[in-house]
Amino acid sequence: MAAFTEQRVLAVRHWTSRLFSFRTTRPASFRFRSGEFVMLGLMVDGKPLVRAYSIASPSWDDGLDFFSIKVADGPLTSRLQAIEEGDAILLGAKSVGTLVHDALLPGKRLFLLSTGTGIAPFASIIRDPETYERFDEVILTHTCREAAELAYGEEVVASLKDDPLVGERAHKLTHYTSLTREAHPRMGRITALMDSGQLWADTGGPLDPAADRVMICGSLEMIEDCKARVEAAGLEEGSNARPGAFVVEKAFVG
Ligand code: A2P
Repeated sequence: MAAFTEQRVLAVRHWTSRLFSFRTTRPASFRFRSGEFVMLGLMVDGKPLVRAYSIASPSWDDGLDFFSIKVADGPLTSRLQAIEEGDAILLGAKSVGTLVHDALLPGKRLFLLSTGTGIAPFASIIRDPETYERFDEVILTHTCREAAELAYGEEVVASLKDDPLVGERAHKLTHYTSLTREAHPRMGRITALMDSGQLWADTGGPLDPAADRVMICGSLEMIEDCKARVEAAGLEEGSNARPGAFVVEKAFVG
């Protein structure tokens, strides 16, 4: 099996000077679990230049959605941000990842903690019916620098109420946003909101290792800082081989 297939860009949206999203064709044979990532990129000087990208669309969708940062001097994203409808894009043959239901034990509340483009895998998970079958409450936190950076997540969440598969259960989802560099009803890093107790006060109580499950996706530092707090509450990390109470991922793209 070839490592990559060539797909077509179906649409591109620029959300801010730092963020864009795009949709590609999906090979009929390409299967993935909600929350997984895949290698994605462009041919550059005759060679594949690829990075790991979380798939933001649900697994039943005909196309594949991705949400990306733009790094001016990033080898891939400096080029990728110029893609247009109809362009060719390389898609890895196989998806992998730890932000999957298989790596979590059953529970009552599911916290999906994200910053920036770290919301991408959760955009898939919140549109997966299994999420609402497994959990009574789903709390998606998204912290960004500025309000415009929240728009992608706000649009995905708003679309849930008309979603044929999860629409009726969308009331189980709480979208919990905060900003760090612009005025907003809720200010501060998610770690600060945990430390002050505000996150727990707003969502029904402190983390309970027996009932709460957590997925974490953001920068390396954000993941480390959130992981330390979740572990301090007594939750143990899970994996595909050994499901646990929380899982982490890194937003790899640069
Ligand atoms: P801050 O503005 O205080 O750096 P970025 O766009 O740099 O990836 O950041 C996205 C969001 O993640 C920002 O609101 C940023 O806050 C926040 N953030 C950055 N580092 C951490 C961290 N170590 N723990 C929690 N949140 C973080």
